[in-house]
Amino acid sequence: MVPFLDLKAQYASIKSEVDAAIQGVLNSCQFTLGTEVAAFEEEFAAYCGSAYGVGVNNGTSALHLALLAADVGAGDEVITIPFTFVASAAAIYYTGAKPVFVDIDPRTYTMNPKTVEAAITPRTKAILPVHLYGQPADMDPILQIAKKHGLVVIEDAAQAHGAEYNGGRIGGLGDMGCFSFYPGKNLGAYGEGGMVVTSNPELARKVRMLRDWGGEKKYQHVLKGYNMRLEGMQGAVLRVKLRHLEAWTEARRAAAVRYGALFAGSGVPTPYAHSNVRHVYHIYATRTAKRETLQAGLQARGIQTGIHYPTPVHLLPAYADLGYKVGAFPHSEQAANEVLSLPMYPELTTSMQEEVAAAVIELHGVSRAAAMT
Ligand SMILES: Cc1ncc(COP(=O)(O)O)c(C=O)c1O
Repeated sequence: MVPFLDLKAQYASIKSEVDAAIQGVLNSCQFTLGTEVAAFEEEFAAYCGSAYGVGVNNGTSALHLALLAADVGAGDEVITIPFTFVASAAAIYYTGAKPVFVDIDPRTYTMNPKTVEAAITPRTKAILPVHLYGQPADMDPILQIAKKHGLVVIEDAAQAHGAEYNGGRIGGLGDMGCFSFYPGKNLGAYGEGGMVVTSNPELARKVRMLRDWGGEKKYQHVLKGYNMRLEGMQGAVLRVKLRHLEAWTEARRAAAVRYGALFAGSGVPTPYAHSNVRHVYHIYATRTAKRETLQAGLQARGIQTGIHYPTPVHLLPAYADLGYKVGAFPHSEQAANEVLSLPMYPELTTSMQEEVAAAVIELHGVSRAAAMT
């Protein structure tokens, strides 16, 4: 058996630290926000190279509140990609604005900057690149376009804790960076969590107010706010886990190198990483036109895989009202049809990777032959 993810193995490796942190919250009874959350906000913001961090209840709320803080609302448009988790587009909708999609670079699965300017209209307010799979989007041209047109840049960094672009940590490159701490993420809570990081004090203040009923003082509601606070328990657990994040990230990167060596010369497609980035391999995806055959074959051998994501957002029934048709974003659509995520996590052993690679190579031959008939 090779599981897709093994959160139990990770817990076992840090059990005493986590248990003590949770006990600390039980002792203090600071169950929502509180000192652990405040300390985590400071530590994670510093990790991202940002001045401020505002902890929220999940990554979707981080995106939602970042957009609101940037004054995105009804009548506005926000440019993003359709090959992403639905939350990237859903958060835009929550504000009343409309997601406008542009296609991906098929090598990196991130926003193709060359497509962005053509999508800008007088209603465009922001660009929301997604660092999908842990690979940074090509931020320099995106930031240049945003500057030229006076647009806000909000990074969807939900899958990319610790990723770097030209030596700078993602999340801190745009106006705001939005993270998810969903349990399976590279830095995952023991429940739900998210954060907005920024170096702009006004934006930080606004997100801070919005996540806690729109005020800085109790019962003084200055903005129409929400209850989107990060729980104390999650702050305490995330502080513990942040101390291990660099070692875990390096373990993921080493595992990616190992897969690369195992697949070398086999014809199995491996992820592309630009030379100027630090890819953090939240997802390690191969591609095949006969995905079902490959996935079923691996499953039969006890190897779990995932598909991130089988339908691009513009073709999801929930977003049919946007009016996009099949063929609108060919690279996103092809990726959605072909990607298959292999097991990838810090606790993955060399022998597990050898087992995965041997099975993929064997089945890939089969699935390629099947694709040709
Ligand atoms: C790219 C992307 N954006 C946003 C989110 C939303 O994060 P959450 O699940 O914490 O709300 C996720 C994670 O699920 C994601 O993968």
